[in-house]
Amino acid sequence: MQQAAFQGGRAFTRAYIGYAHAIAHALGGAYRLPHGLACAVSLPAVLEGYGSAARRPLERLAESAGFPASADCFISQLRALNERLGLPSSLSCIRPEDIESLSQTALREANPAYPVPRIFDHAEMTEVLRKIAGNQTSKAGSTA
Ligand SMILES: [Fe+2]
Repeated sequence: MQQAAFQGGRAFTRAYIGYAHAIAHALGGAYRLPHGLACAVSLPAVLEGYGSAARRPLERLAESAGFPASADCFISQLRALNERLGLPSSLSCIRPEDIESLSQTALREANPAYPVPRIFDHAEMTEVLRKIAGNQTSKAGSTA
């Protein structure tokens, strides 16, 4: 585990972090969720939210991991990994009435300093948070 933590630290020291961490920090503050759990559950929804802006890097990651060179495949494999690890696919602790403020908190942390493939606006961050909460009631395609 220490070797894995070291390698993870090396990776994010070089590449920095993105919206999954900002969201996880907001969720940790609001609900006392463990940071790793919040990151793991948030990451697939964040990557989907990046849409075409992250497609090529995700294709390369999928291919490097031995999967077909597909962003959708990479995200699906992340969800499958979470499931194999016994992690939830969504975070039902997120209260709908909290999503607006969680979005503002995450955006305040991340924008504009985090080197994300695409800057989310408030509506896009709200949509991602709804997905993480397991509530996808807003209009389809608004995060693409
Ligand atoms: Fe973090």
